[in-house]
Amino acid sequence: MKKSVDDLALFGGPMAFEKTLVVGKPSTGDRAKFYERLELALDSGRLTSGGPLVKEFEARIADHAGTRHCVATCNGTIALEVMARAAGLTGEVIMPSMTYVATAHAMRYLGLTPVFCDLDPTTGCIDPEQVENLITDRTSALVGVHLWGQPAAIQELEKIAEVHSLTLFFDAAHGIGCSFGPKPLGGFGQAEMFSFHAAKVVTTFEGGAIVTDDDEFAQRARYTHNFGWGEEHVTEFAGTNAKMSEASAAMGLTSLDALPATIAANRAHYELYAGALDGLPGLEMHRYDEEHRNSYQYNVVKVDEAECGLSRDAILGLLRADNVLAQRYFSPCVHECEPYRTERPVSLPATDAFSRRVLTLPTGPSVTSEQAAEVAALVAFAVEHAPEIRRRLATR
Ligand SMILES: Cc1ncc(COP(=O)(O)O)c(C=O)c1O
Repeated sequence: MKKSVDDLALFGGPMAFEKTLVVGKPSTGDRAKFYERLELALDSGRLTSGGPLVKEFEARIADHAGTRHCVATCNGTIALEVMARAAGLTGEVIMPSMTYVATAHAMRYLGLTPVFCDLDPTTGCIDPEQVENLITDRTSALVGVHLWGQPAAIQELEKIAEVHSLTLFFDAAHGIGCSFGPKPLGGFGQAEMFSFHAAKVVTTFEGGAIVTDDDEFAQRARYTHNFGWGEEHVTEFAGTNAKMSEASAAMGLTSLDALPATIAANRAHYELYAGALDGLPGLEMHRYDEEHRNSYQYNVVKVDEAECGLSRDAILGLLRADNVLAQRYFSPCVHECEPYRTERPVSLPATDAFSRRVLTLPTGPSVTSEQAAEVAALVAFAVEHAPEIRRRLATR
Protein backbone atom coordinates (compact mmCIF):
# COMPACT_ATOMS: atom_id res chain seq x y z
CA MET A 1 0.00 0.00 0.00
CA LYS A 2 1.27 3.46 -0.88
CA LYS A 3 1.50 5.82 2.10
CA SER A 4 2.98 8.85 0.42
CA VAL A 5 3.50 10.11 -3.12
CA ASP A 6 7.16 9.08 -2.77
CA ASP A 7 5.97 5.46 -2.65
CA LEU A 8 4.64 5.66 -6.22
CA ALA A 9 7.00 3.86 -8.59
CA LEU A 10 6.94 6.85 -10.94
CA PHE A 11 8.60 8.90 -8.18
CA GLY A 12 11.12 6.23 -7.15
CA GLY A 13 9.05 3.95 -4.90
CA PRO A 14 8.97 0.14 -5.27
CA MET A 15 6.68 -1.24 -7.97
CA ALA A 16 3.31 -2.40 -6.65
CA PHE A 17 3.42 -5.49 -8.88
CA GLU A 18 6.46 -7.66 -9.51
CA LYS A 19 4.89 -9.19 -12.64
CA THR A 20 3.14 -6.98 -15.17
CA LEU A 21 -0.62 -6.98 -14.69
CA VAL A 22 -2.23 -6.80 -18.14
CA VAL A 23 -5.77 -5.87 -19.14
CA GLY A 24 -6.61 -9.11 -20.88
CA LYS A 25 -4.45 -12.04 -19.80
CA PRO A 26 -5.65 -14.93 -21.97
CA SER A 27 -8.45 -17.06 -20.57
CA THR A 28 -7.07 -20.42 -21.71
CA GLY A 29 -9.14 -22.75 -19.53
CA ASP A 30 -8.19 -26.30 -18.52
CA ARG A 31 -4.69 -26.95 -19.86
CA ALA A 32 -4.99 -30.76 -19.63
CA LYS A 33 -8.14 -30.64 -21.77
CA PHE A 34 -6.37 -28.41 -24.29
CA TYR A 35 -3.45 -30.86 -24.55
CA GLU A 36 -5.91 -33.72 -24.96
CA ARG A 37 -7.55 -31.92 -27.90
CA LEU A 38 -4.17 -31.09 -29.38
CA GLU A 39 -3.14 -34.77 -29.16
CA LEU A 40 -6.33 -35.66 -31.04
CA ALA A 41 -5.41 -33.23 -33.81
CA LEU A 42 -1.83 -34.48 -34.00
CA ASP A 43 -2.93 -38.12 -34.02
CA SER A 44 -5.53 -37.47 -36.73
CA GLY A 45 -2.94 -35.85 -38.98
CA ARG A 46 -5.60 -33.28 -39.86
CA LEU A 47 -4.17 -29.95 -38.79
CA THR A 48 -6.32 -27.55 -40.82
CA SER A 49 -8.79 -27.19 -43.72
CA GLY A 50 -12.04 -27.95 -41.97
CA GLY A 51 -10.82 -30.57 -39.48
CA PRO A 52 -13.07 -31.96 -36.73
CA LEU A 53 -12.03 -29.45 -34.06
CA VAL A 54 -12.76 -26.45 -36.30
CA LYS A 55 -16.12 -28.01 -37.19
CA GLU A 56 -16.91 -28.54 -33.50
CA PHE A 57 -15.82 -24.99 -32.67
CA GLU A 58 -17.96 -23.55 -35.48
CA ALA A 59 -20.97 -25.53 -34.25
CA ARG A 60 -20.46 -24.30 -30.69
CA ILE A 61 -20.03 -20.66 -31.73
CA ALA A 62 -23.13 -20.83 -33.96
CA ASP A 63 -25.01 -22.30 -31.01
CA HIS A 64 -23.67 -19.57 -28.71
CA ALA A 65 -24.72 -16.85 -31.17
CA GLY A 66 -28.01 -18.52 -32.04
CA THR A 67 -27.17 -18.43 -35.76
CA ARG A 68 -27.49 -21.06 -38.47
CA HIS A 69 -23.91 -20.58 -39.68
CA CYS A 70 -20.43 -19.93 -38.38
CA VAL A 71 -17.27 -19.72 -40.48
CA ALA A 72 -14.18 -19.76 -38.27
CA THR A 73 -11.26 -17.64 -39.47
CA CYS A 74 -7.61 -17.05 -38.60
CA ASN A 75 -8.40 -13.65 -37.05
CA GLY A 76 -11.20 -11.12 -36.76
CA THR A 77 -9.70 -8.57 -39.16
CA ILE A 78 -9.64 -11.09 -41.99
CA ALA A 79 -13.19 -12.11 -41.06
CA LEU A 80 -14.28 -8.51 -41.73
CA GLU A 81 -12.42 -8.54 -45.05
CA VAL A 82 -14.07 -11.81 -46.03
CA MET A 83 -17.49 -10.39 -45.11
CA ALA A 84 -16.89 -7.28 -47.22
CA ARG A 85 -15.68 -9.35 -50.18
CA ALA A 86 -18.49 -11.88 -49.88
CA ALA A 87 -21.06 -9.06 -49.85
CA GLY A 88 -19.37 -7.30 -52.78
CA LEU A 89 -19.07 -3.97 -50.94
CA THR A 90 -17.99 -0.95 -52.92
CA GLY A 91 -17.31 2.75 -52.27
CA GLU A 92 -17.96 4.02 -48.75
CA VAL A 93 -18.66 2.18 -45.51
CA ILE A 94 -20.06 4.08 -42.53
CA MET A 95 -18.73 3.07 -39.11
CA PRO A 96 -17.86 4.56 -35.72
CA SER A 97 -14.39 5.86 -34.97
CA MET A 98 -14.54 4.65 -31.35
CA THR A 99 -13.28 1.18 -32.23
CA TYR A 100 -10.05 -0.66 -32.86
CA VAL A 101 -8.28 0.36 -36.08
CA ALA A 102 -8.99 -3.08 -37.56
CA THR A 103 -12.65 -2.20 -38.23
CA ALA A 104 -11.55 0.54 -40.63
CA HIS A 105 -8.32 -1.07 -41.82
CA ALA A 106 -10.17 -4.18 -43.01
CA MET A 107 -12.29 -2.01 -45.31
CA ARG A 108 -9.50 0.35 -46.33
CA TYR A 109 -7.24 -2.61 -47.16
CA LEU A 110 -9.83 -3.69 -49.74
CA GLY A 111 -9.90 -0.23 -51.30
CA LEU A 112 -13.12 0.83 -49.58
CA THR A 113 -13.47 4.20 -47.84
CA PRO A 114 -14.33 4.19 -44.14
CA VAL A 115 -16.61 7.11 -43.26
CA PHE A 116 -16.61 7.82 -39.54
CA CYS A 117 -19.75 8.68 -37.64
CA ASP A 118 -19.91 10.29 -34.18
CA LEU A 119 -21.10 8.37 -31.14
CA ASP A 120 -23.79 8.20 -28.51
CA PRO A 121 -22.07 9.38 -25.30
CA THR A 122 -24.07 6.99 -23.11
CA THR A 123 -22.72 3.83 -24.70
CA GLY A 124 -19.85 5.01 -26.89
CA CYS A 125 -21.46 3.16 -29.83
CA ILE A 126 -22.34 4.80 -33.16
CA ASP A 127 -25.07 7.47 -32.97
CA PRO A 128 -27.75 6.26 -35.42
CA GLU A 129 -29.22 9.76 -35.67
CA GLN A 130 -26.07 10.96 -37.40
CA VAL A 131 -25.72 8.02 -39.80
CA GLU A 132 -28.22 9.19 -42.39
CA ASN A 133 -26.39 12.52 -42.91
CA LEU A 134 -23.35 10.54 -44.03
CA ILE A 135 -25.06 8.37 -46.64
CA THR A 136 -24.11 9.22 -50.22
CA ASP A 137 -24.64 7.47 -53.54
CA ARG A 138 -21.26 5.77 -52.92
CA THR A 139 -22.31 4.22 -49.59
CA SER A 140 -22.67 0.43 -49.72
CA ALA A 141 -22.67 -0.59 -46.07
CA LEU A 142 -22.95 0.27 -42.40
CA VAL A 143 -20.72 -1.44 -39.86
CA GLY A 144 -21.94 -1.14 -36.28
CA VAL A 145 -19.48 -1.97 -33.51
CA HIS A 146 -20.69 -3.51 -30.25
CA LEU A 147 -18.20 -1.51 -28.22
CA TRP A 148 -17.11 -3.44 -25.08
CA GLY A 149 -19.89 -5.93 -25.82
CA GLN A 150 -22.73 -3.38 -25.63
CA PRO A 151 -25.18 -3.77 -28.48
CA ALA A 152 -24.84 -1.00 -31.06
CA ALA A 153 -28.16 0.70 -31.89
CA ILE A 154 -29.25 -2.48 -33.67
CA GLN A 155 -32.88 -1.70 -34.47
CA GLU A 156 -32.18 1.86 -35.64
CA LEU A 157 -29.31 0.69 -37.87
CA GLU A 158 -31.44 -2.12 -39.29
CA LYS A 159 -34.10 0.41 -40.22
CA ILE A 160 -31.62 2.77 -41.91
CA ALA A 161 -30.01 -0.12 -43.80
CA GLU A 162 -33.40 -1.27 -45.03
CA VAL A 163 -34.58 2.19 -46.13
CA HIS A 164 -31.35 2.88 -48.04
CA SER A 165 -30.77 -0.72 -49.27
CA LEU A 166 -27.39 -0.96 -47.53
CA THR A 167 -25.58 -4.00 -46.23
CA LEU A 168 -25.45 -4.03 -42.43
CA PHE A 169 -22.62 -5.79 -40.62
CA PHE A 170 -21.63 -5.77 -36.99
CA ASP A 171 -18.13 -5.89 -35.62
CA ALA A 172 -18.82 -8.09 -32.59
CA ALA A 173 -15.13 -8.53 -31.74
CA HIS A 174 -16.14 -7.95 -28.09
CA GLY A 175 -19.49 -9.70 -28.42
CA ILE A 176 -19.00 -13.22 -27.06
CA GLY A 177 -21.09 -13.69 -23.91
CA CYS A 178 -23.09 -10.52 -24.63
CA SER A 179 -26.64 -9.94 -25.79
CA PHE A 180 -29.20 -7.48 -27.10
CA GLY A 181 -32.01 -8.04 -24.61
CA PRO A 182 -32.45 -11.81 -24.43
CA LYS A 183 -30.90 -12.48 -27.87
CA PRO A 184 -27.15 -13.14 -28.07
CA LEU A 185 -25.02 -10.82 -30.19
CA GLY A 186 -24.07 -12.49 -33.46
CA GLY A 187 -27.46 -12.86 -35.13
CA PHE A 188 -28.03 -9.29 -36.28
CA GLY A 189 -27.57 -7.56 -39.65
CA GLN A 190 -26.44 -9.64 -42.59
CA ALA A 191 -23.54 -11.05 -40.58
CA GLU A 192 -21.42 -10.38 -37.51
CA MET A 193 -17.74 -10.93 -36.73
CA PHE A 194 -16.25 -12.25 -33.49
CA SER A 195 -12.58 -11.94 -32.55
CA PHE A 196 -10.78 -14.65 -30.58
CA HIS A 197 -7.55 -12.72 -30.20
CA ALA A 198 -5.53 -13.68 -27.11
CA ALA A 199 -6.92 -10.71 -25.17
CA LYS A 200 -10.57 -11.55 -25.87
CA VAL A 201 -12.94 -13.27 -23.48
CA VAL A 202 -12.63 -16.47 -25.56
CA THR A 203 -9.33 -17.03 -27.33
CA THR A 204 -7.99 -19.23 -30.12
CA PHE A 205 -4.48 -17.63 -29.85
CA GLU A 206 -5.43 -15.63 -32.97
CA GLY A 207 -8.82 -16.20 -34.54
CA GLY A 208 -12.18 -14.92 -35.53
CA ALA A 209 -15.54 -16.03 -36.87
CA ILE A 210 -18.31 -14.89 -39.16
CA VAL A 211 -21.81 -15.72 -37.94
CA THR A 212 -24.97 -15.31 -39.99
CA ASP A 213 -28.44 -16.66 -40.65
CA ASP A 214 -28.15 -15.92 -44.37
CA ASP A 215 -27.55 -19.27 -46.14
CA GLU A 216 -26.32 -17.79 -49.40
CA PHE A 217 -24.02 -15.30 -47.70
CA ALA A 218 -22.64 -18.03 -45.42
CA GLN A 219 -21.72 -20.15 -48.42
CA ARG A 220 -20.06 -17.26 -50.18
CA ALA A 221 -18.13 -16.35 -47.02
CA ARG A 222 -17.03 -20.00 -46.62
CA TYR A 223 -15.80 -20.13 -50.20
CA THR A 224 -14.11 -16.72 -49.84
CA HIS A 225 -12.22 -17.82 -46.70
CA ASN A 226 -10.86 -20.88 -48.52
CA PHE A 227 -9.33 -19.46 -51.73
CA GLY A 228 -12.74 -19.41 -53.43
CA TRP A 229 -12.97 -23.23 -53.53
CA GLY A 230 -16.56 -24.44 -53.93
CA GLU A 231 -18.19 -27.80 -53.22
CA GLU A 232 -16.96 -29.47 -56.41
CA HIS A 233 -13.35 -28.56 -55.73
CA VAL A 234 -13.29 -25.96 -58.43
CA THR A 235 -12.73 -22.31 -57.55
CA GLU A 236 -15.84 -20.18 -57.92
CA PHE A 237 -13.93 -16.89 -57.69
CA ALA A 238 -10.71 -15.49 -56.25
CA GLY A 239 -10.79 -15.96 -52.50
CA THR A 240 -8.22 -15.72 -49.74
CA ASN A 241 -6.85 -18.04 -47.08
CA ALA A 242 -8.59 -17.10 -43.85
CA LYS A 243 -8.97 -20.59 -42.38
CA MET A 244 -8.61 -21.42 -38.70
CA SER A 245 -6.21 -24.23 -37.72
CA GLU A 246 -7.05 -27.24 -35.55
CA ALA A 247 -4.65 -26.03 -32.84
CA SER A 248 -6.53 -22.75 -32.65
CA ALA A 249 -9.87 -24.55 -32.49
CA ALA A 250 -8.51 -26.79 -29.69
CA MET A 251 -7.70 -23.63 -27.73
CA GLY A 252 -11.05 -22.06 -28.64
CA LEU A 253 -13.08 -25.03 -27.41
CA THR A 254 -11.13 -25.10 -24.15
CA SER A 255 -11.40 -21.35 -23.66
CA LEU A 256 -15.12 -21.51 -24.45
CA ASP A 257 -15.57 -24.20 -21.75
CA ALA A 258 -14.17 -21.65 -19.30
CA LEU A 259 -16.41 -18.78 -20.44
CA PRO A 260 -18.92 -18.85 -17.52
CA ALA A 261 -16.05 -18.74 -14.98
CA THR A 262 -14.32 -15.98 -16.96
CA ILE A 263 -17.44 -13.83 -17.02
CA ALA A 264 -18.05 -14.42 -13.29
CA ALA A 265 -14.47 -13.31 -12.49
CA ASN A 266 -14.80 -10.26 -14.76
CA ARG A 267 -18.08 -9.28 -13.14
CA ALA A 268 -16.60 -9.60 -9.63
CA HIS A 269 -13.66 -7.38 -10.63
CA TYR A 270 -16.03 -4.86 -12.16
CA GLU A 271 -18.04 -4.64 -8.93
CA LEU A 272 -14.84 -4.26 -6.95
CA TYR A 273 -13.59 -1.42 -9.14
CA ALA A 274 -16.99 0.28 -9.09
CA GLY A 275 -17.18 -0.01 -5.29
CA ALA A 276 -13.74 1.56 -4.89
CA LEU A 277 -13.76 4.22 -7.62
CA ASP A 278 -17.33 5.41 -8.26
CA GLY A 279 -17.92 8.57 -6.31
CA LEU A 280 -14.29 9.68 -6.22
CA PRO A 281 -13.98 13.13 -7.80
CA GLY A 282 -13.91 12.91 -11.59
CA LEU A 283 -14.04 9.10 -11.77
CA GLU A 284 -16.90 6.98 -13.01
CA MET A 285 -16.98 3.35 -14.08
CA HIS A 286 -18.60 2.93 -17.49
CA ARG A 287 -21.96 1.35 -16.75
CA TYR A 288 -23.41 -1.56 -18.72
CA ASP A 289 -27.18 -1.54 -19.24
CA GLU A 290 -28.56 -4.48 -17.25
CA GLU A 291 -31.19 -5.03 -19.95
CA HIS A 292 -28.44 -6.72 -21.99
CA ARG A 293 -25.93 -9.38 -20.98
CA ASN A 294 -22.29 -8.27 -20.89
CA SER A 295 -19.07 -10.25 -20.40
CA TYR A 296 -17.56 -7.45 -18.30
CA GLN A 297 -14.37 -7.96 -20.25
CA TYR A 298 -13.81 -4.22 -20.35
CA ASN A 299 -13.58 -2.53 -16.96
CA VAL A 300 -13.48 1.05 -18.12
CA VAL A 301 -13.10 3.94 -15.70
CA LYS A 302 -13.86 7.34 -17.22
CA VAL A 303 -11.68 10.18 -16.01
CA ASP A 304 -12.90 13.77 -16.01
CA GLU A 305 -9.64 15.68 -15.75
CA ALA A 306 -11.21 18.96 -14.63
CA GLU A 307 -12.93 17.32 -11.65
CA CYS A 308 -10.30 14.74 -10.86
CA GLY A 309 -7.26 17.00 -10.99
CA LEU A 310 -5.33 14.44 -13.03
CA SER A 311 -5.64 13.58 -16.69
CA ARG A 312 -6.46 10.05 -17.81
CA ASP A 313 -2.92 9.85 -19.20
CA ALA A 314 -1.35 10.96 -15.93
CA ILE A 315 -3.18 8.14 -14.10
CA LEU A 316 -2.17 5.73 -16.88
CA GLY A 317 1.47 6.78 -16.46
CA LEU A 318 1.34 6.20 -12.70
CA LEU A 319 -0.23 2.77 -13.13
CA ARG A 320 2.24 1.71 -15.80
CA ALA A 321 5.20 2.75 -13.64
CA ASP A 322 3.76 0.47 -10.94
CA ASN A 323 3.63 -2.38 -13.50
CA VAL A 324 -0.10 -2.18 -14.21
CA LEU A 325 -0.48 -2.24 -17.98
CA ALA A 326 -3.81 -0.39 -18.12
CA GLN A 327 -4.96 0.53 -21.63
CA ARG A 328 -6.73 3.32 -23.51
CA TYR A 329 -9.29 1.30 -25.44
CA PHE A 330 -9.80 3.18 -27.80
CA SER A 331 -7.74 6.31 -27.73
CA PRO A 332 -6.57 7.64 -30.08
CA CYS A 333 -9.69 6.57 -31.92
CA VAL A 334 -9.58 5.63 -35.55
CA HIS A 335 -10.21 8.97 -37.27
CA GLU A 336 -7.16 10.26 -35.38
CA CYS A 337 -4.96 7.48 -36.81
CA GLU A 338 -3.24 7.29 -40.17
CA PRO A 339 -4.13 7.07 -42.98
CA TYR A 340 -7.55 8.48 -42.05
CA ARG A 341 -6.50 11.68 -40.28
CA THR A 342 -4.55 12.79 -43.36
CA GLU A 343 -6.78 11.40 -46.09
CA ARG A 344 -10.14 12.43 -44.73
CA PRO A 345 -10.03 14.70 -41.67
CA VAL A 346 -13.35 14.81 -39.83
CA SER A 347 -14.72 16.50 -36.75
CA LEU A 348 -16.25 14.07 -34.25
CA PRO A 349 -16.63 16.06 -31.02
CA ALA A 350 -18.55 13.45 -29.02
CA THR A 351 -16.03 10.76 -30.00
CA ASP A 352 -13.09 12.97 -29.03
CA ALA A 353 -14.61 13.83 -25.64
CA PHE A 354 -15.50 10.20 -24.91
CA SER A 355 -12.24 8.57 -25.99
CA ARG A 356 -10.10 11.10 -24.12
CA ARG A 357 -11.55 9.87 -20.81
CA VAL A 358 -11.36 6.09 -21.06
CA LEU A 359 -8.98 3.95 -19.05
CA THR A 360 -9.32 0.16 -19.14
CA LEU A 361 -8.28 -1.70 -16.00
CA PRO A 362 -6.97 -5.27 -15.67
CA THR A 363 -9.46 -8.10 -15.35
CA GLY A 364 -9.99 -11.76 -16.19
CA PRO A 365 -9.76 -14.96 -14.17
CA SER A 366 -5.99 -14.71 -13.77
CA VAL A 367 -6.32 -11.40 -11.93
CA THR A 368 -7.03 -12.04 -8.25
CA SER A 369 -9.47 -9.90 -6.29
CA GLU A 370 -6.52 -8.78 -4.14
CA GLN A 371 -4.74 -7.55 -7.27
CA ALA A 372 -7.85 -5.76 -8.56
CA ALA A 373 -8.28 -4.18 -5.11
CA GLU A 374 -4.66 -3.02 -5.20
CA VAL A 375 -5.12 -1.48 -8.66
CA ALA A 376 -8.26 0.30 -7.46
CA ALA A 377 -6.38 1.51 -4.36
CA LEU A 378 -3.59 2.86 -6.57
CA VAL A 379 -6.05 4.84 -8.69
CA ALA A 380 -7.86 6.12 -5.60
CA PHE A 381 -4.53 7.08 -4.01
CA ALA A 382 -3.58 9.03 -7.14
CA VAL A 383 -6.86 10.94 -7.12
CA GLU A 384 -6.59 11.70 -3.39
CA HIS A 385 -3.08 13.10 -3.93
CA ALA A 386 -3.85 14.78 -7.27
CA PRO A 387 -2.52 18.29 -6.42
CA GLU A 388 0.84 17.00 -5.22
CA ILE A 389 1.20 14.52 -8.10
CA ARG A 390 0.36 17.27 -10.57
CA ARG A 391 3.01 19.50 -9.02
CA ARG A 392 5.62 16.77 -9.22
CA LEU A 393 4.74 15.89 -12.81
CA ALA A 394 5.02 19.55 -13.81
CA THR A 395 8.62 19.73 -12.55
CA ARG A 396 9.80 16.52 -14.25
C1 LIG B 1 -13.47 -3.74 -32.14
C2 LIG B 1 -12.45 -4.64 -32.78
N1 LIG B 1 -12.56 -4.93 -34.08
C3 LIG B 1 -11.68 -5.73 -34.70
C4 LIG B 1 -10.65 -6.32 -34.01
C5 LIG B 1 -9.69 -7.17 -34.75
O1 LIG B 1 -9.74 -8.52 -34.36
P1 LIG B 1 -8.45 -9.44 -34.53
O2 LIG B 1 -7.42 -8.96 -33.57
O3 LIG B 1 -8.96 -10.80 -34.18
O4 LIG B 1 -8.01 -9.33 -35.94
C6 LIG B 1 -10.51 -6.06 -32.64
C7 LIG B 1 -9.47 -6.61 -31.79
O5 LIG B 1 -8.48 -7.06 -31.86
C8 LIG B 1 -11.41 -5.20 -32.00
O6 LIG B 1 -11.29 -4.90 -30.70
